[in-house]
Amino acid sequence: MKALILAGGAGTRLRPITHTRAKQLVPVANKPILFYGIEAMVSAGITEIGVIVGDTREEVMAALGDGSAFGAAITYLPQDQPLGLAHCVLIARDFLGDDDFVMYLGDNLLEQDLAAFVDAFRTARAGDQPPDAQILLKQVPDPHRFGIAELDASGDVVRLVEKPADPPSDLALVGVYLFDAGIHEAVAAIEPSPRGELEITDAIQWLVDQGRRVRCELLTGWWIDTGKLTPLLEANRLILERIEPTIEGTVDEASVIDGRVHIGAGATITGSTIRGPVSIGPGAVIENAFIGPFSAIGARCRVVSSEIEHSVLMDDSSVIDVPRLEDSLIGSHAEVMRSRRKPRALRLMVGDHCQIDAE
Ligand code: G1P
Repeated sequence: MKALILAGGAGTRLRPITHTRAKQLVPVANKPILFYGIEAMVSAGITEIGVIVGDTREEVMAALGDGSAFGAAITYLPQDQPLGLAHCVLIARDFLGDDDFVMYLGDNLLEQDLAAFVDAFRTARAGDQPPDAQILLKQVPDPHRFGIAELDASGDVVRLVEKPADPPSDLALVGVYLFDAGIHEAVAAIEPSPRGELEITDAIQWLVDQGRRVRCELLTGWWIDTGKLTPLLEANRLILERIEPTIEGTVDEASVIDGRVHIGAGATITGSTIRGPVSIGPGAVIENAFIGPFSAIGARCRVVSSEIEHSVLMDDSSVIDVPRLEDSLIGSHAEVMRSRRKPRALRLMVGDHCQIDAE
């Protein structure tokens, strides 16, 4: 079995960060989102991975390399225009051959291990009525934002619709799909949707219409489509909740480390309180500061005389003299400074290399 990971999307809803970086490389708990997907594939036993890349291809290729760091072999498949998820399958035809494959949207994060989901497909494929596809569904409160599945009384998929105005159910298609080679016929047969994209949802509907079997499984753990700030911070919170507490850096006697905290090698904490869950990257400098729950401070960041909570600071950024920064995403090499005279909390999304003087 192969994997097809989609890392081409423009990430317009995370601007300005995505003006200068791929949305799939924004870090969550100090690790790029895309790495979680690659690791999930490898731990499900899939090491031949095709990665669809778009305008940000150089950055994605630099981050993933040939895949050997993950124990995988990566083939890059360029998509020149964002023409839809089913279009990604079209351009991956030669790479995929006639193999079964997992398609994984590079900005999705799942709590659940994918090995069981992949094994269920493998087992079903070896059975009497082998399915042509398997989808993963999750109940959501806002079904109009997703592809939605309608099931019959026996739990079989009868209809799939992309972002319906009038949703037939609250079961959203999670961004992980399993297919056999039959999907190639489907993606060649469908027409672009009203948003001008070849929708994978329509391709799976085509399979259903042809009488092919589409299995579904319900996801039990959390699932986050990280393309916007609020879900990104939520994913950061959920992953930090399960990090291994380890202190590899230096903490002086005047500092307090409380709860689930990871401090990377070469980081120095002086006169500060770190209240977990928190991850502090290697080489970071934290001085006279408070780092509160659900914060991820990137490598080589400087936080001085400031309070930070529920925020992501990307590598090499600094926050100086800010009374309180919360619910924020700060790009790499950005600098945020503020006078202590106006103790108001800041909520910011700051692009790479920006300087914010909030006085
Ligand atoms: C895509 C799919 C949608 C699916 C979602 C999961 O939406 O089209 O069916 O539910 O991913 O993340 P998009 O992110 O392109 O809006």
